[in-house]
Amino acid sequence: MSRDDPLYEDGNLVQFYDLENGWGPDFDFCAGLAAGARSVLDLGCGTGELAAKLAETCEVVGVDPAAAMLAVARARPGGDRVEWLEGDARDLRLDRRFDLILLTGHAFQVFLTPEDQLAALRTIALHLNPRGRFIFDSRNPAVEEWREWVPEESREEITHPKLGAVEAWNDVAYDPATGIATYETHYRVVSTGQHFSATSQIRFTPKDELEALISEAGLHVTQWYGDWQGGPCTADSKELIPLGGLVQLA
Ligand SMILES: C[S@@+](CC[C@H](N)C(=O)[O-])C[C@H]1O[C@@H](n2cnc3c(N)ncnc32)[C@H](O)[C@@H]1O
Repeated sequence: MSRDDPLYEDGNLVQFYDLENGWGPDFDFCAGLAAGARSVLDLGCGTGELAAKLAETCEVVGVDPAAAMLAVARARPGGDRVEWLEGDARDLRLDRRFDLILLTGHAFQVFLTPEDQLAALRTIALHLNPRGRFIFDSRNPAVEEWREWVPEESREEITHPKLGAVEAWNDVAYDPATGIATYETHYRVVSTGQHFSATSQIRFTPKDELEALISEAGLHVTQWYGDWQGGPCTADSKELIPLGGLVQLA
């Protein structure tokens, strides 16, 4: 399980998160869904850019097990409007329900077994209002995106506001038996040679397996998207994005 992943737990690595992951079409899409919602639960909220924005118009709870990610979230402009909780999406029990529950940035892929995935989906079911909606993204294994996470294809230079030029790259090993990609993330400060790295794991799950787990958790999908622009989910779409709610009992 990816708890204790230095990529999210170690401040030396977390300082690069927002440089590489900023506001994009996923956050735009979720902001559209949140319009009209009175309450949002952001599971695996990370550094909290989306949660802080949504909290301008509704009540937002952001949950993440990584204290270092939450420290960035708390300190960001608008961070004081969000209720940040250090917690695990698999066993979170707040005794509260929400109009919208999100996992963005492929946070769902940190769950490495069907049991952990089901536990997270059950948490969603237990925290959704009767007419509430959930959405998350998981990369489509058919596209084999992990093949790009090798040094030759991933190497880039980014600029850190304090450290200056930083060389960044990944490396990866993929296990087709489990769908788990074990990947390395590297940052090397060009001026000093200082090197930070982490080894992390995420799971790629086929759509039919995701669909079965979602329904086992008492949820149903009203629409599958294949990207965050709202495109259809096809066999070769990059993303598997289910939008749904609680199974309505007749
Ligand atoms: C790729 S980041 C995504 C962060 C954010 N949602 C975004 O869109 O930028 C994945 C996040 O999942 C969190 N995470 C890891 N294990 C988790 C768990 N068991 N429950 C909830 N979040 C978890 C990590 O700490 C990390 O902040």
